[in-house]
Amino acid sequence: MTITLRLKKQERESKIVCGNGVFEREFPRLIKSYPQAFVFTDENVDALYGDVIRSLAPDVPVYAMKAGEENKQPHTLIALLQKMAEAGLHRKACLFAVGGGVVGDIGGLAAALYMRGIDCVQVPTTLLSQVDSSVGGKTAVDLDCYKNVVGAFHQPTAVLVDGTFLRTLPRREIACGLGEIIKHGALNGELFDRLYQNKERLFDLSFLDEIVPLNIRHKANVVEADERETGLRKSLNLGHTTGHAVELVDGKLSHGEYVLVGMRYEMRLAKTRVPCDEEYLNRLDELILYVLEKGQMPSVKEGIAYAKLDKKNEENGTIVVTAPTKRGEYALLHLPFAEYESELLRLEEAFSC
Ligand SMILES: NC(=O)c1ccc[n+]([C@@H]2O[C@H](COP(=O)([O-])OP(=O)(O)OC[C@H]3O[C@@H](n4cnc5c(N)ncnc54)[C@H](O)[C@@H]3O)[C@@H](O)[C@H]2O)c1
Ligand SMILES: [Zn+2]
Repeated sequence: MTITLRLKKQERESKIVCGNGVFEREFPRLIKSYPQAFVFTDENVDALYGDVIRSLAPDVPVYAMKAGEENKQPHTLIALLQKMAEAGLHRKACLFAVGGGVVGDIGGLAAALYMRGIDCVQVPTTLLSQVDSSVGGKTAVDLDCYKNVVGAFHQPTAVLVDGTFLRTLPRREIACGLGEIIKHGALNGELFDRLYQNKERLFDLSFLDEIVPLNIRHKANVVEADERETGLRKSLNLGHTTGHAVELVDGKLSHGEYVLVGMRYEMRLAKTRVPCDEEYLNRLDELILYVLEKGQMPSVKEGIAYAKLDKKNEENGTIVVTAPTKRGEYALLHLPFAEYESELLRLEEAFSC
């Protein structure tokens, strides 16, 4: 299945090709369509798929970074750019980023910077990168502890989404991707129904094959409507304000699981402030608990201070929360810090009862 992402302002298209076996079929074909190519990956993916990559693209240089968010730093970006220069890449070359969101974000940024921009093809190998980070053209590295502060918009010319990569992915990384998938479900009624009807199958690779393209279509629609994140794209922050703040201080769960923790708090904030469909929110909560076990509700107390520093906050000391309200609907809640803090502490007590 091919999903086309049309970017009107840039007069560009991004082809997202999904399906099992897509990598083996499309990767050599795309490599051949460029005069020069370069593969960027990480050491874990290289250990698992390096042989396949090299057999499909025998003469293409491969550079593998040390895996992990802690290496999503300028020094890795510079090392990659140096390898690209040493390989003699010119402006008509293409960088293939084969890996999770870390590889995709650094690879995309290197492609945006190298000779003021070369083509990039994303090959996402984690569930999160397949349904989220490889689509939309946001690229970045962290600067010490400041996440994603050095970045650029650079749309990939193609994205190859192959479900067979997920066979080697640890369960926690699947849970991570499911966090973003359930977030999409909270924004898209049809997707929600599909997830809720199949809640027992969330971790089945055959079910993920069915729903990954629906998630990509949802994200692509949002990106098409709002390329530069000025409006609708903010809906994708659902669960993230509280979730990310807890993630910063707790750090035991995966990012997607913290998004689910955030959603559990934020839907409860919505209930007492805006019209909500209580029955639907109960079903959404039930769905979340198929991924997030009840015992995995970390404390929000220390995270609240970080939520106050969120770059999406308003200047008047108000925090903005994108909260689910009804099937396929969300609300932007504008809460003064003090109110946000006291409500979260109250909810935490209720969770621990
Ligand atoms: N650009 C965007 O729009 C956007 C959106 C969401 C997240 N992100 C970024 O994405 C990053 C997180 O991405 P992630 O969750 O994919 O993390 P990741 O890239 O660190 O991958 C997670 C782990 O899985 C390993 N791995 C990758 N593919 C594998 C496979 N097929 N089998 C076994 N192991 C595999 C990796 O080596 C790594 O250890 C963060 O840096 C985040 O900021 C970007
Ligand atoms: Zn996220």
